[in-house]
Amino acid sequence: MRAIVTYPPTGGLELVNVPQEAGNGVLVRTLYTGICGTDKELVLGRLKFARPQKGHALILGHEALGRVVDPGDSGSFKNGDLVVPMVRRPGGCRMCRMGRQDYCEDGDFVEAGIRGKDGFMRDEFFEEENFLVKVDESTIGKLAVLTEPLKNAMKIREIFRFMESRVKWNCDDSTLECRNIYVFGTGTEGLLISSVFKTMGMNVIAVNRHPLDEGIISFLDRNGIGYLDTSSETLESRVKREKMDAAVDAVGAMDVFKGITDNIQRNGIVILFGTNGQLPSSQYDIIGEIVDKNLSICGSVDGAKIHYNEAVEFIENYGKRFGLESIITGVYEPEDLDIFTKKEKGEIKKVIKWS
Ligand code: BGC
Ligand code: ZN
Repeated sequence: MRAIVTYPPTGGLELVNVPQEAGNGVLVRTLYTGICGTDKELVLGRLKFARPQKGHALILGHEALGRVVDPGDSGSFKNGDLVVPMVRRPGGCRMCRMGRQDYCEDGDFVEAGIRGKDGFMRDEFFEEENFLVKVDESTIGKLAVLTEPLKNAMKIREIFRFMESRVKWNCDDSTLECRNIYVFGTGTEGLLISSVFKTMGMNVIAVNRHPLDEGIISFLDRNGIGYLDTSSETLESRVKREKMDAAVDAVGAMDVFKGITDNIQRNGIVILFGTNGQLPSSQYDIIGEIVDKNLSICGSVDGAKIHYNEAVEFIENYGKRFGLESIITGVYEPEDLDIFTKKEKGEIKKVIKWS
């Protein structure tokens, strides 16, 4: 069968023929796999923690939608079911044993298509039923390929609710309508995170450094999400009109973080999700802002099974209303390998169609 592989830590990209693994569990035929920043970093050899399952090649792909073609002795799945596989697999620590490998304590986990486990960019794969999430074909179908990136937004929502309860943060009418949240980054994750906070009743402003593509603007407009292109208006000037109460960073750059701590209100909530770039230790002044403003800052990576289920539910409830299908801007063949390195004008999420 066909498989798209890379060679960590060097990177690279190849479509190869691999033998079908002799596996047990549920046999899944891949329908779609999504490509995200993590895949692009892997291919460029820039992801420090990337490692193959065995040998030198790692099968890429952690965002997938597939169809059960043989349920094995699984009681929960039958032939024809649509399923989304989970990315991260538990090690032996307490958190992993509780099903919260997204909070793994000792790093002894693997992630399909990223570190220590082959991914889903292949025609078929075997999967343990525990790591498959069932999707209802009639309500969401192909959109379910967004479940994996959306589960990250659902974990961010969980963290946000927790941080929000630290002070009495809701408005006088006990909604969140008086609160503004700035979401940095307008890629797939940024748009999904913005959509989730919009449904929580907050005023959401999506931020990018460059003028936004038309497709992104129409997505934000139709969903009542504001936006800021910091090449035409500075963050400093925008927050004078719309104060920043909370921020989610889906970029991961130092200047974005400094922009947040400089401009956010006291008791602000900051969730960091992006991972490009490092925090240089010379920026000590940022620490002062964090302390003096009582900021709650939390990092977030990955998500648990509950977040996959919440993501499926979110797509069922809001997929049509939010026009989530417009996030998928291109459907390609496994042979089209240059989609990993070329950026199309207006691209948001590219997916590969396997069957
Ligand atoms: C995935 C996460 C994963 C992270 C780091 C992201 O692209 O969505 O599930 O934990 O990469 O490997
Ligand atoms: Zn991803």
